[in-house]
Order: sequence, then structure tokens, then C-alpha cells
Amino acid sequence: MEILDGKKISNQIKDEITVEVDKMKKKGEKVPHLAAVLVGNDGASLTYVGSKVKSCERVGFESTLVKLPSTTSELELLNKIEELNKDENIDGFIVQLPLPEQINEQKVLMAIDPDKDVDGFHPTNFGKMALDMSTFIPATPFGILELLERYNVETKGKHTVVIGRSHIVGRPMSILMGRKGFPGNSTVTLTHSHTKNITQITSQADIIITALGQPNYLKAEMVKDDVVVIDVGITRVPDEDAPRGYKITGDVDFENVSKKASYITPVPGGVGPMTIAMLLKNTLLARERHRARNGQ
Ligand code: GUN
Repeated sequence: MEILDGKKISNQIKDEITVEVDKMKKKGEKVPHLAAVLVGNDGASLTYVGSKVKSCERVGFESTLVKLPSTTSELELLNKIEELNKDENIDGFIVQLPLPEQINEQKVLMAIDPDKDVDGFHPTNFGKMALDMSTFIPATPFGILELLERYNVETKGKHTVVIGRSHIVGRPMSILMGRKGFPGNSTVTLTHSHTKNITQITSQADIIITALGQPNYLKAEMVKDDVVVIDVGITRVPDEDAPRGYKITGDVDFENVSKKASYITPVPGGVGPMTIAMLLKNTLLARERHRARNGQ
């Protein structure tokens, strides 16, 4: 069994990005600038956005954190997005999800300029991804592809089972694993809450990608020997012994499933850090495209 070490690979990617940023600086070019919009005080979202902004510093990007109160109206958020769309200084931005219930998520994602949509959530970018066109690939699926590629995990002709059909992970992952090329060329099954006999499906899988948010859902009895397991779950489970009063738990019963797996991602230290590294990669790409559009 080999650990797919997202922490290590994400640090390599950040080092590679730092080299690119240093080259930009030497040439006197503008460095990439990412903005992140956070509405409300959700603890997990605060942590994620904080990590995204901190990672910008680490690679030499500029960053802006826009914090709005949980009472923000949809119109106020749409106005902020319009401001960011027009701001020549900002190369890319994200609106952290989930949003408070008074705000329509679809309307918000549609309002983001696709050229600045480094999350790849706008229908234009999502459609381009499905059609194999150059675009921003959503950071978590992009990070999973990168992990599979850097560990040279064979995906061609394999049966990939994706658990969960969220717009952020499961749905795009199911599309990407079936695309031509590497990683890809898999035969994909997308399972969800209405799937019957899920164990029958997972026990035939060569590769399992779980994005469910149910701690320890995937058990050893549900997988075959030598399976590749990618755990996207990051649920906070109360734990009195942990310094913060909780521990981050994945969807996979790691202790037992890892004994059967050929490759497996840990939680934490697997997919999570890769998401941030790929957001930075998309922001670097956004800067390069921005310069190509307006010459600076
Ligand atoms: N919430 C959970 N994951 C993500 C993500 O990748 N991007 C944004 N914007 N919100 C999220």
C-alpha cells in the first residue's frame, strides 16, 4: 500500500508556482492576485478561506479577503461580484460555498466573469470542461487528477466509482475520469443517495472516489484487493482529546480499507491540501490569460 501524499505533492506544486512568480517579478511583471469572498461566520469556511489566503503569501501572490456579514443580501453580494469582475487588479476570485440561505447560489455563480472564475463553477467553464476545452477545472477534482498523475496511477480501462454527485466534486470528477487521456479513459459509475446495492458496485471498483461527507462510510468489506481509494470527506467530528475539540474525519475507514488498498489518500493530508494548490495553479493561469488579453 502506498499513501498518496497530498501534503508533499501540494508543497511541490507550491514550490513550482513560486519559481514562476519569481520569474514574473524579475521581468517586472504583475504577480497573480486572488480575491476570496466569505459571507458569514461558518467555522469550516473561515478555516478554508484562511488557508487559501495564507497559501497566496507562501507563493508570492497578492490576495484580498472580502468578509461580508451573514445578513448580506443577494443584491449586495452580486454588487460586490460586479466590482471584482471590473477590478483590473484582480486576476481571479472565488465565492466560498455554502452561502447563507437568503442568497441563491446559482445566481451568484452565474454572475462571476468566467475569465476570473478560478473555481471553475460557472456554467461556461463547466461546459468547456465537459467538452475537453481549455478552462479552469474545479480545484478539488483537478487536485485528484494531479495526485493520480504524479503517482502514475493507471486509470485507463479501469472501473472508477464516484460516490456523491455534488457540483463541486462528484459530478465533475465523473466527467473528468471518463475523458480521453491520462488521467482518464476510465469506465465511470456515478453513485448517489438513490443508488441500490452500492456494495455490489464498490466491490467491483478499481478506483473509488468518495465525496459524501459521512465519516467512516467506506468499509473494508465494500472494496476489493488492490483498490485505489481517494477520500474527499472532511467532516469535523467532536473529540474531547483534540486541541480544538474536534478531529477531521474522512469518508473512509482508513485503518481497515488501507490494508486492502494499493494506493490511498489520508485525511487530513490527502485531497485537502491539493485543492488549495490547484486553486493557486488556476490563479496563475488566470494571470497569464489576463496578461494575454490586455498586454499587462
Ligand atoms: N466550498 C467547499 N469547497 C469549495 C471550493 O472548492 N470552492 C468554493 N468556492 N467553495 C467551496
